[in-house]
Amino acid sequence: MIDITLARALHVVAIVLWLGGVGMVTTVLLPAIRRQHPPAGRFAQFHAIEHGFARQARWTTGLAGATGVYMAWRLDLWDRFAAAEFWWMHAMVATWAVFTLMLFVIEPLFLDRLLARRAARQPEATYRLIERLHRGLLALSLLTVAGAVAGAHGLNLFDW
Ligand code: HEM
Repeated sequence: MIDITLARALHVVAIVLWLGGVGMVTTVLLPAIRRQHPPAGRFAQFHAIEHGFARQARWTTGLAGATGVYMAWRLDLWDRFAAAEFWWMHAMVATWAVFTLMLFVIEPLFLDRLLARRAARQPEATYRLIERLHRGLLALSLLTVAGAVAGAHGLNLFDW
């Protein structure tokens, strides 16, 4: 069982590093760039800094996914996906899928270029959109973390 405990520890470490970064970008970096740069320069500034974080986030989302699937396989938890009380298992997979798609497919394939083009035409609105997107992703992630910790330690919202 030590392997499951280690997988759980790695799962949480990966999530702390990854979502800590999302929190930092959303609540500190984006507002700081908005305050310090005129609209026309904001996207380039943000993109230059966020690039390094995206590289790191690819590793941490990968590790979170691998350790999560390992735990589900070792503990044989698949039937949880058929029960509403385990909504937080679905939330983990959904959150992971959204970030994985963003980091590996949508951003590199077209979102980066689309946003750069839009930022050249409408810098203020594009930056606002990026901020909103990050706030939404952070809210989804935090809800998932709260649900997963509470659920994994026995809270059942459907049976008070
Ligand atoms: C493919 C994606 C994922 C899978 C398959 C997965 C699977 C799991 C499993 C099987 C557990 C143990 C549950 C238990 O002991 O009853 C767990 C725990 C947990 N997961 Fe995930 N997970 C995934 C992604 C995520 C994501 C994206 C987050 C955060 C946003 C997350 C946050 C957590 C937390 C906070 C715990 C509880 C740790 C604890 O307090 O013991 N997981 N996950």
